[in-house]
Amino acid sequence: MFDRSERGDRAVLLCPTPMQRSQRAEQPDRIAEFRELVTTAGAEIFDVITSTRQTVDSKYYIGSGKAEELAEAVKIHEADVVVVDAALSPIQERNLEALVKARVLDRRTLILDIFAQRARSYEGQLQVELAQLKHMSTRLVRGWTHLERQKGGIGMRGPGETQLETDRRLLNARVKSLNAKLDKVMRQREQGRKQRKKSGTKMMALVGYTNAGKSTLFNLITDAEVYAKDQLFATLDPTVRQFTAIQGSQAVISDTVGFVRDLPHELVAAFRATLQEALDADVLLHVIDDSNPEHRDHMNEVYKVLGELEIDDVPVIEVFNKIDQSGAKPAWQPGEAGSPDRVWVSAHKNLGIDLLLKAIEERLHRTHVALSFVLPMNQAKLRAQFYQLDAIRDESFDDLGQWQLEVELPIEKWRQLAKGDDEGAHFVSELLNENDIAINENPQNW
Ligand code: GTP
Repeated sequence: MFDRSERGDRAVLLCPTPMQRSQRAEQPDRIAEFRELVTTAGAEIFDVITSTRQTVDSKYYIGSGKAEELAEAVKIHEADVVVVDAALSPIQERNLEALVKARVLDRRTLILDIFAQRARSYEGQLQVELAQLKHMSTRLVRGWTHLERQKGGIGMRGPGETQLETDRRLLNARVKSLNAKLDKVMRQREQGRKQRKKSGTKMMALVGYTNAGKSTLFNLITDAEVYAKDQLFATLDPTVRQFTAIQGSQAVISDTVGFVRDLPHELVAAFRATLQEALDADVLLHVIDDSNPEHRDHMNEVYKVLGELEIDDVPVIEVFNKIDQSGAKPAWQPGEAGSPDRVWVSAHKNLGIDLLLKAIEERLHRTHVALSFVLPMNQAKLRAQFYQLDAIRDESFDDLGQWQLEVELPIEKWRQLAKGDDEGAHFVSELLNENDIAINENPQNW
């Protein structure tokens, strides 16, 4: 990762303590997570310095006494990199580097570095490079040497320009070209998604906090070979595979990138793009590490992001994984009144997977309703709506010129269509009544 020297990266960590007392309780967990991030990025940790300063110092971020302590630790351990669990300004980074005589990385640069190592799909790689360039552009004050160190070989200098101008020009050109490529890839993905919907294929997505066991579960239930390692972020890109384990319907399942707290700003767009599949899913499998004492916080973090992305009307199955470590028994607890189903499994030891498959199958059937009916000619607007939703599974005309339709939609969507004052809503509302489907139900309750 960071300018690797022959013997590998020797790191000293700097972990500032949060200002608020309430946040301090999380500190041991936060340091442990930060250590894992640094190890994941490929460095070896030799020392961890904590700082409890209440104010941010504009020169070093930490006070000068602490900065000296850090420099001393770097010297003793012959470290070549200092990684700081905070967002540093370019000036603070530069001042610290000059003092400790080693490369200094902040949390954002570290996570960007890990994402860059992990991006596997073309789109993921483009997204991460874009994020890196944006991040780099804020640090261009240092000019060429820094750029060269970050990526190497971006291009040659044009005539009559200062170094900084050249850097900016090259960087802008690269950003433009990356954006154009991304546009194209995203259009292609959209196409695939539309085709999938049209053919009635069910879509499931695995989401969850990093290291919860998504890739392991994904491999187990699809037989796909997806990279899984005991490292954070083993998966960056959504990977879609056929899912044949359930009967009766075509289904695909996608693995998405792991969630993490305090995602750097520059990465939010890239991260969200990898969640597109979740946005379209018929069922979300939320994988949780049942053996991690912090799993409640991790779950909240995941739901917070899903809420921000407005992915909160997709039915959820909470998969409590690693029960071989937590001691829980395999079980399935169906959710009532719109709350998530819960299943306890171990992907590693293949425990409770049969229950999970049953829960998925049941959930898909419970949430999707296919209705066959005759649609009068004056309901063309409603028919157009069904088309827009890719919901029409079969269509023919009867002798009276009416449409004979088979339409499949999630139950929430049917209910939504039944609400309103126009003729289409009245028609759907009658249709649901005839089929004994309640129009008002408790909303999804997380
Ligand atoms: P990211 O890619 O970081 O988001 O991680 P992930 O959620 O895809 O996790 P992954 O499948 O890579 O698993 C992380 C680690 O947990 C690996 O070392 C797995 O072997 C381990 N693991 C997964 N499932 C289980 C389980 O049921 N029990 C135990 N003990 N370990 C498990």
